[in-house]
Amino acid sequence: MKHPKTAQQVKTLFSRVAKRYDFLNHLLSGGVDYYWRGFLTQRVKEQFPRDLLDLATGSGDLLISLRKRKAYQGIGVGGDFCFPMLTVAQQKGVRELSTADAMHLPFHDHSFDAVTISFGYRNVVDRPMALKEILRVLRPGGFLYLLEFSHPVVWWKKIYWKYLVEILPVMAQLWGAEVSDYDYLAETIRRFPNQKQLVQELKQSGFDAICYWNLTGGIVALHMAHKGST
Ligand SMILES: C[S@@+](CC[C@H](N)C(=O)[O-])C[C@H]1O[C@@H](n2cnc3c(N)ncnc32)[C@H](O)[C@@H]1O
Repeated sequence: MKHPKTAQQVKTLFSRVAKRYDFLNHLLSGGVDYYWRGFLTQRVKEQFPRDLLDLATGSGDLLISLRKRKAYQGIGVGGDFCFPMLTVAQQKGVRELSTADAMHLPFHDHSFDAVTISFGYRNVVDRPMALKEILRVLRPGGFLYLLEFSHPVVWWKKIYWKYLVEILPVMAQLWGAEVSDYDYLAETIRRFPNQKQLVQELKQSGFDAICYWNLTGGIVALHMAHKGST
């Protein structure tokens, strides 16, 4: 199958991988994904927002981490446009779920103090549209926390790209996934802006006070962006 280009095709891909998603996620990352989501959780907890939206929540792991560690005070909602992924989240005990497309969010203006998105942003077909929507639903003074694969800044860069392009799709296939799905995953990571380019993308959309942390040598980066008072 060809790589997804439209939102419908992205949805179809995640519908297909939903049941295996968690298992392969932990396997292919060697379990480091727990640490990455934990780091984000801690940054949110430091701000201790009231209401929070976890966008592209998928199987709900980030929302579960945020809830367990009491990182927010009020309501925590998980939004995703892929129903089978939301079903997995529901089976794991996540209750506050919404079928939500990042490009057309079904929430009123100024509904949340924080929006989190982990490993979902690079799959969104129209990223500027999603940022516009996130800004709309955030309250003035709120924060976006964007956790995403990025560009390694250390010596193992070459080994990492090799793993991503040559080894990861084959390993995923061994565990029953379609090779093209994980080949797509690798391609989206390679095409995604690097840390500084993402800062520019966020700035151009209207966020200010943007900072980021490199995790695991920049394999993943967490960007935190502030919505000003207008
Ligand atoms: C790689 S998974 C990440 C799931 C979860 N956040 C995590 O940390 O494991 C990407 C998720 O993004 C969702 N997604 C992609 N495009 C989306 C969009 N336009 N609106 C809402 N969800 C979207 C997919 O359905 C999928 O559940």
